[in-house]
Amino acid sequence: MRGKDVRFSQWLNVWFYGVFSVLFFSGVIWLVVHNAGTVGTEGEGFDGQVSPLEPWLLKIHGAAAMGSLVILGVLIPSHMQRAWQLKRNHFPTVAIVGLCLLMAISGYGLYYCGSDAWRAWISGFHSVAGCALPLVLVWHIFSGRKRK
Ligand code: HEM
Ligand code: HEM
Repeated sequence: MRGKDVRFSQWLNVWFYGVFSVLFFSGVIWLVVHNAGTVGTEGEGFDGQVSPLEPWLLKIHGAAAMGSLVILGVLIPSHMQRAWQLKRNHFPTVAIVGLCLLMAISGYGLYYCGSDAWRAWISGFHSVAGCALPLVLVWHIFSGRKRK
């Protein structure tokens, strides 16, 4: 097995970056729209209305989240197992794999957690960790390439 087998094929590159970009930007735009709406909660300004964009952004985000799980499943044999067998695993690998798992678990929590207090914590974690995901991904890719 050659080292280049760890690289993504052309179609996988398109699907991976396409789906993860929609996932990331729908989450970040939701954060901006949601928080812009809550500025001025005390007193004038906020009228308790939710922007009509919010449900659409979450629908897009939820669909991209499901797509991202399919892509991560494709990566298990085509990328993760191969890189592991070639002993090309490195610390940022633990970070990217762990972060993807935590995003999926906290995403599940956002759907099904009944308690408002817990949901607020999960939402905060999911949002901060999600914003950090591209940075961890770039770290993973660069350190993986250095170890050829
Ligand atoms: C056991 C887990 C993993 C291992 C051992 C691993 C290892 C590696 C290595 C060695 C590279 C450098 C390849 C090269 O350019 O020569 C790499 C690149 C990359 N990894 Fe991973 N990885 C793992 C999991 C993941 C996960 C979960 C993701 C997605 C969230 C991911 C996304 C990427 C991407 C996008 C690249 C760049 C690929 C390219 O440009 O062709 N990896 N990985
Ligand atoms: C790429 C970075 C990501 C960012 C920036 C992000 C951001 C967000 C934000 C801001 C929310 C709304 C939080 C709330 O309702 O309080 C959300 C909801 C959600 N996210 Fe993410 N997320 C990301 C990745 C993921 C991933 C990888 C998954 C699962 C595989 C996921 C699954 C979900 C789910 C299921 C919801 C709930 C949707 C709903 O309530 O309709 N997210 N995300």
